[in-house]
Formats: sequence, structure tokens, C-alpha cells
Amino acid sequence: METAIIYATSHGTTEKVANIIASRLDRATLINLKKSAHIDLSQFQQVIIGGSIHAGSIQRKVREFCNTNMVQLLQMRVGLFICAMNEPEFDNELKMAFPEVIRNHAISQRVVGGEFIIERMNFIERFLVKKISGVSQTTSKIDDGAISELISRMQIE
Ligand SMILES: Cc1cc2nc3c(=O)[nH]c(=O)nc-3n(C[C@H](O)[C@H](O)[C@H](O)COP(=O)(O)O)c2cc1C
Repeated sequence: METAIIYATSHGTTEKVANIIASRLDRATLINLKKSAHIDLSQFQQVIIGGSIHAGSIQRKVREFCNTNMVQLLQMRVGLFICAMNEPEFDNELKMAFPEVIRNHAISQRVVGGEFIIERMNFIERFLVKKISGVSQTTSKIDDGAISELISRMQIE
């Protein structure tokens, strides 16, 4: 089964997770939404869509991709994931990240944790992360268990 892993990333963590997922699936194609103008979904049997949460929202490119390709996505096997660090908000952030119809249709949807990579942040981002989360050093909290659960659900035919 051919899988498209379609994602947007701001500091590279969603891309890292997308690569982990790709490495554990038989046949997967990675598509970065910020680098791909036109995406032809017809060659794929399933699609995994991922993005990260910044100030409560997923990247606009992910929302646009879901809305533009809604009809086709609803005829495919779909998995969803977000990278995020504010654990108390995980359920709500996942709920807000993708259109309800796509979430209801999805085989699996997971929050896979995330990272704060201080050296990739600009001054304002550093200030906000320190103020809101109290974090001033690079921190990784990628949830490998959640990634594995997503992958195993997508592997069930
Ligand atoms: C400026 C900034 C704002 C963030 N806001 C949120 C947030 O509102 N909720 C949350 O759960 N995580 C938040 N995060 C954590 C990111 O989701 C996390 O860093 C994620 O791994 C980023 O993935 P990316 O590098 O693929 O963009 C924020 C991170 C930064 C740097």
C-alpha cells in the first residue's frame, strides 16, 4: 500500500516525525506542504497528514490542504497527527487542527508530542516559549508510543 505523508513544519520536528513514520512503513512518499505546489493524491491508497501547533493553531497550509482535497481524502484511508507541547490542551488542539469530517473519517489521529528547539526560534518565539512554558533550553518530548500506535493502525488493511 502506497502512503503519502503530507506535512508542514516550522522548526523541523514534524518533519522528523514524518521521517520516522516513513521509515517504518513499506512504501511511503514524504511531501512537505511548504515545498510542493501541486499534490496528486491519485497514486496513493492512504495519506497521513501532520502539522504542529503554534499559539493554538496548526499551520494554515495544513488546513488549506484538508479543505481543498476534502472530497478525495474522504475516499482514502487517512491518518492524522500533530506535534504539540502543551499537554493539557492536546485533545482540544487536535480537535481544532483538522476539519471534523476528516477527523471522523480518520483511521487514527494522534498527538505525538514535540520539541522546543531554542536555536531555531527567533527572539519573539524564545520569549514566548520562556514566558508561557518556562522553557529556555532545547527540550524533546517526542512520544514514540503515540507514533507507533498511529503506524500500526495505518498498517491494518
Ligand atoms: C512560538 C511557539 C508557540 C507554540 N505554541 C504551542 C501551543 O500553543 N500549543 C502547543 O501544544 N505547543 C506549542 N508549541 C510547541 C510546538 O508545537 C512544538 O515546538 C512542535 O514540536 C513544533 O514542531 P515543528 O518544528 O514541526 O513546527 C509552540 C512552539 C513555539 C516555538
